Amino acid sequence: MISQALNEQLTRSGPGTDAGAVMRYYWQPAALSDELAGPRPVVPVKLLGEDLVLFRDSEGALGLIGRACPHRGADLCYGRLEDNGLRCPFHGWHFNRDGQCVEQPGEPEGSRMHENIQNTSYPVVEKNGIIFAYMGPGDPPAFPNFDCFRAPETHVFAFKGLWECNWLQAMEVGIDPAHASFLHRFLEDEDPADSYGKQFRDKAADTDMPMTQLLREYTQPDISVEETDYGMRLIALRHLGGGKTHVRITNQIFPQAISIPMSREMIITQWHVPIDDERCYWYSMFTSFDTPVDKEKMRAQRLQEHRLPDYAPLKNKANNYGFDPEEQRRETYTGMGLDINVHDQWAVESPGAIFDRTREHLGKTDVAIIKYRRMLRAAMASLGEGNTDALPMVDGVDVTSVYGPISNDTIGDKDNWRQAFEDSDRARRAACSDWDATV
Ligand code: FES
Ligand SMILES: [Fe+2]
Repeated sequence: MISQALNEQLTRSGPGTDAGAVMRYYWQPAALSDELAGPRPVVPVKLLGEDLVLFRDSEGALGLIGRACPHRGADLCYGRLEDNGLRCPFHGWHFNRDGQCVEQPGEPEGSRMHENIQNTSYPVVEKNGIIFAYMGPGDPPAFPNFDCFRAPETHVFAFKGLWECNWLQAMEVGIDPAHASFLHRFLEDEDPADSYGKQFRDKAADTDMPMTQLLREYTQPDISVEETDYGMRLIALRHLGGGKTHVRITNQIFPQAISIPMSREMIITQWHVPIDDERCYWYSMFTSFDTPVDKEKMRAQRLQEHRLPDYAPLKNKANNYGFDPEEQRRETYTGMGLDINVHDQWAVESPGAIFDRTREHLGKTDVAIIKYRRMLRAAMASLGEGNTDALPMVDGVDVTSVYGPISNDTIGDKDNWRQAFEDSDRARRAACSDWDATV
C-alpha cells in the first residue's frame, strides 16, 4: 500500500501535475484515424485533462488546437472548417492549424490584433491508424522503431475503448501476468481455429495445447522484471513438467503503454491515455508478422462491443458488465462473456475511478506494478530537479535505435528459457516476409 499523497501524485495527469509532466515528454494517442474519416473531419479531444479540437484541413494536414475560442470561449468543435483552419461561428475569428488567429472579420479595417492571438496548439503525427500528439516542452521527439510503427499500414490495425477509471489502474492490469490464469479463464476451450483477432485463443507456442488450457492449468507463474531502454520487460514462466517451461514475454513501455503477444501471428501495443483523472482510453495497435491484418473483421468484432462516437463499451457498470451467474458456473471465471476486454474493464473499473491504494495489499505477483511505480517516481523526481535523466527514451538516447520490444509466448527447456524466447522471436522476425522485422 502507498500513502494517499503518493497515490495522488502517481495518478493525476492534468497540467501542472507531476505525472502529467512526465507523460507530456512522450507522444500520446489523441484519436484514431477512423474518427476523422467522415465528411467533416473535426472531433473533440480531451487529453490529459485538456479540452482540444482535432481537425484535418483542406490540404489534408492535421491540427490540434484549444477547444475554447480565445475570444470569448465558444466551442470550436462547431467551427467552420475552411481555408486551412477552423473559423469560430460566434464572431468569425479564424485559426490556422497551428492555432494562430489569422483573421478577425468583425474588427475594424487594418486591425492587427489577431497577430497577438495564439490558441493552444500541439504537434500531431499520424502513425498506422492513430493520431499522436506531443504536448510537452521543446521539439517533439522522434518515434521509437517499435514494430507497430515499423510495420506497413496494411499490417497494423488500430482501435480504442473507453474505461471509466484512472489511467494507472488501467495500465496496472497490463503489467500483471498472474491475472490471465483467473480473470480470463475459460472453463472449456474453443477451437483455436476460430481464434482470429482474439487474445488468448491461439495454441500455446508450437504445441497443440490451447492457451486457455495452459493458463487454466498453470496458475502460479514465476514472474520477474528487467529494466530496459524503453521501460521494462516482464517474464512469466510457467513450468510445465518434463523439463519444459512456458515463457510469456510482455513489456511496459514508459510511461503508459504495454506490448504483449496476442497470438503467434500478432502482438498488441496498447497505450492507457488519460482523458481526465477518472476516465481513460486504451488505444491498441495490433501488428501482424504474417499476412496483412483483416481490418474489416477486426473492426467488426470490436464494433459489436462498442458504441460510437465515444467508443464506450456496451457492457459496463450500468448493466453489470453482462454478468450471468450461470455462465460463471459453467463457462467463464467472470460470467461476463468471452470478450476478455470486458473482464479487464470490470477489473479496473470496479475498484472505483481512482482506487484508494492506501487499502491495497500487493503480493509477489505484483512485482512489475511495484517496479513501475518506482520508475515513475524516479522520473517525477528527476523533473522536479530540473533534468530528464530518469525518463526512459528522453535526452541523449537515439530512440530510433529502440526496437521491438519482444512480445511472445514460447515453450522451451526449463534451464534455457531465455534462449528459447530469443530464438523464437528471431525466427518470427526472419519469417516475416511482407516487411522487414529484423533487428
Ligand atoms: S467567441 Fe469565437 S469569435 Fe467570438
Ligand atoms: Fe487482462
